[in-house]
Amino acid sequence: MCGIIGYTGPRAAVPILIDGLKRLEYRGYDSAGLAVVADGRLSEVKAVGKVHQLEEALAAHAGLEEKSGCGIAHTRWATHGAPSTPNAHPHLDESGQIAIVHNGIIENYQELRRYLEGKGCHFRSQTDSEVIANLIAEAYEGDLLAATAATLEQLNGTYGIAVVSVRHPGLIVTARKGSPIVIGIGKGENLVASDVAALLAHTREVIYLDDGDIAVVTADRIDLRNVKNVPVEREIAKIDWDMGAAEKGNFPHFMLKEIFEQPETIENAIRGRIDHSMGTAVLAGMNLSPRELATISRIVIAGCGSSLHAGMLGEYYFEDIAGVSTSVEQAAEFRYRNPIIEPNTLVIPISQSGETADTIAAVREASAKGGVVTALCNVVGSTIAREAGRGIYLHAGPEISVASTKAFSSQVVVLLLYALMLGRNRRLSRSDGEELAREIEAVPGLIREVLREAPKIKEIADRYARFEDFFFIGRGCLYPTALEGALKLKEISYIHAEGYHAAELKHGPISLLDERHPVLALANDIPGKDKIIGNIQECRARKSPVVAVVTRGDSSVVKMTDDVIEIPPCSRFIAPLPTVVALQLFAYYVAVARGCEVDQPRNLAKSVTVE
Ligand code: F6R
Repeated sequence: MCGIIGYTGPRAAVPILIDGLKRLEYRGYDSAGLAVVADGRLSEVKAVGKVHQLEEALAAHAGLEEKSGCGIAHTRWATHGAPSTPNAHPHLDESGQIAIVHNGIIENYQELRRYLEGKGCHFRSQTDSEVIANLIAEAYEGDLLAATAATLEQLNGTYGIAVVSVRHPGLIVTARKGSPIVIGIGKGENLVASDVAALLAHTREVIYLDDGDIAVVTADRIDLRNVKNVPVEREIAKIDWDMGAAEKGNFPHFMLKEIFEQPETIENAIRGRIDHSMGTAVLAGMNLSPRELATISRIVIAGCGSSLHAGMLGEYYFEDIAGVSTSVEQAAEFRYRNPIIEPNTLVIPISQSGETADTIAAVREASAKGGVVTALCNVVGSTIAREAGRGIYLHAGPEISVASTKAFSSQVVVLLLYALMLGRNRRLSRSDGEELAREIEAVPGLIREVLREAPKIKEIADRYARFEDFFFIGRGCLYPTALEGALKLKEISYIHAEGYHAAELKHGPISLLDERHPVLALANDIPGKDKIIGNIQECRARKSPVVAVVTRGDSSVVKMTDDVIEIPPCSRFIAPLPTVVALQLFAYYVAVARGCEVDQPRNLAKSVTVE
């Protein structure tokens, strides 16, 4: 969703802001803009569309790009008001002296707008954000920090903001409540951003603001205060992602690069987490002793989208491997449905970004009800990682493509490790634990084998790219995998794709099947295969073309399908991983064949920070 970058220091601000915006593009947006304070002037430039359109608009501002100074910039994903130049950020107060960029939603903006209009203020946009600039201007008596703090007190809702003023060259005021802000510490310069990806080119040392924090940032000083205006110290964190991780390299798209990174990202997720001598997993971030673990009587998993699908696999793992009763909930449903959480309930929020609004709310609900919360996140220092207090990082590196691939597979691997640890804490024998540990360690190799099939998967995808509707079916652990495969296809290729439990087809959707509705059947040679063979026959009888994922060397399914994608042999717990990689490749090549914008699909945002 929306992205923020700000810079203060001796270098020319505009190129740094533009580069930062480009690194935030992956989050999804529909307009962009920047404001720079230089030579005693506040200049703003905005454009609908992509950052390169903003660069084109900059051509009309001769000399601005070379000016050193301080500035803020923003990519906007429209919520209040259509994507348009007036609605794009930054927003200036009416007098044009103060500029703000804002992520989040101001819930009482209409009331504040009426109040300001009553005082003669004229608004240029339909956004909820413009009120912030005018409220700061109204409260301003020479101190930008004090005026911003006074304004924030009047706001209901969420914000990550950055503020500059022509009267305070070289100074940025930034604050957060519910929407992340991270300060990048440079040498003789400092930066502000909503996401570390925008800072990597300049620094690895950052400070994450806590909710309620407000900071004054200049080139050589960072003054941090809490909600009560009391100076506070915040830890300096080191980012261990390198620049290459946030660049495409030789790949045409981030999504393809991230699919191909999976052998390494899974190795990273496993590294140092298996104890062969005990046949178990060691997950340090859990912070629970074996005795405390043994008291867990129930697990509730909450997440959205792909993270929800990973959670559904977690349910199979925790119940089957560890024997702990588990349920999975869409995080939005969890937060509003008044779930039962007992002291011995382990709540596992799953979120790649750690910033998904509904999952954050689920964490708060679970914590308020006294559950033991351990989060699975990829982004270090993200809101969920910090609020949960304990958890397990995925170590997948930055996931730039909007469609989740490597984060999903790492979530699944970490859930397997988690189930192994819980299993060994209860009924799993050391030898069974060791067997599962070995299977988990073999996953990167299995995925490398699937990646070698990419040319063949592309060839199949090219032939199926003309269809407009798809069904994905699976059973057991391959049921959530089918849901994930359908989600990948629909989000990046805009083909209508539905994932179903294979048994569910007969209960309604089968009425749609005909030669225009291909079925992608997950028919790996694991328990349940015989049943899915029956389901494939039902689809064939209705003339649906069938693409089957099968286990290499298993000829039993081949003759009843139009096309097959082969997966190396593996157990039912492991099968989702190589299978999902094949489905990611299938979705990717279909989207490319249809000329879709793979990394930034329309209407989608990388982290969904609104309800
Ligand atoms: C799908 C996808 C989304 C996310 C969902 C949750 O490819 O990326 O469905 O999985 O928005 O995001 P996180 O995991 O960041 O909470």
